[in-house]
Amino acid sequence: MLSTATIAEEILELKKQRRAILLAHHYQEPEIQELADVIGDSLELARKAREFAGDVIAFCGVWFMAETAKVLNPTRTVVVPDREATCSLVEGCPVEPVREFKRNHPEYTVVSYINTSIEVKAESDILCTSRNAVKVVNSIPADRPVLFLPDNNLGNYVKKQTGRENMKIWQGTCIVHATFPARRLADARAQYPAAKVVAHPECPEAVLAMADFVGSTSAIIEWCAASDAPEFIVMTESGVQYSLERAAPGKRFHFVANEQCNCSECPYMKMNSLEKLRDCLRRLEPRVELPEEIMRRALVPLERMLAVK
Ligand code: 13P
Ligand code: SF4
Repeated sequence: MLSTATIAEEILELKKQRRAILLAHHYQEPEIQELADVIGDSLELARKAREFAGDVIAFCGVWFMAETAKVLNPTRTVVVPDREATCSLVEGCPVEPVREFKRNHPEYTVVSYINTSIEVKAESDILCTSRNAVKVVNSIPADRPVLFLPDNNLGNYVKKQTGRENMKIWQGTCIVHATFPARRLADARAQYPAAKVVAHPECPEAVLAMADFVGSTSAIIEWCAASDAPEFIVMTESGVQYSLERAAPGKRFHFVANEQCNCSECPYMKMNSLEKLRDCLRRLEPRVELPEEIMRRALVPLERMLAVK
């Protein structure tokens, strides 16, 4: 069996040969993050995807993120380590019910979380990520009714933050964040009374109510780094520990296990491995290939989101 260092060397060599950039989400394993040109949350990766000169994007995250990179880079080759790395939010929001909603309620502005399929994005008026969802909803005229999809917890959080009454919310959930029980957080707070609580807005309302800070993956990292506190209870995917320790050396981070896996790992994000990354750079497969028409339609709400300041 080849060592991690040998595989990593081959990946770096393939990156050069292919004129490739490696984008990695914070939830990726440390050995993948160490090779990445950019590590970020979904908004940062969407922005960075179009800012480089090269031929290939190797996207280490989940499929919808790679699709987003492809829409922003239609002429570049976008490859992923594992085609099966999806997301429970994408799987829980098929396009047909969205089309039916639009037929029955044409007056609604459809705001879709970036964790959706390309088909759902193409039906949307504007996209958002967990980092800019409040700003995106606030950018829509107050008298326009909004359909927010698919994450129910994020939708409810945004509704509260914006005070927007005319907002319907889809019933999708993230299997990782939505299954963090508030009572386990309460136990962790009892165990680490000096710790601040940080949470991703995909967590249940009862968890968010106990948080000192709610934000996207990168916002959580920035907040912990800037905080005076030496210790944190982190209500998100445990892959973020690597970035937290780099951004805030010496601080302590405690993760709470959810009810899905009795851990805090995203099973989809963890499908990627160094070997699969090497193989996708060798073969340029699995590759994101999307019909032009759908890319053109999905680009419109994506560009609208990127224009929101
Ligand atoms: P971020 O936008 O915070 O990276 O979240 C993406 C995600 O999938 C959270 O589970
Ligand atoms: Fe999807 Fe949840 Fe995994 Fe994020 S953590 S990719 S929202 S299943």
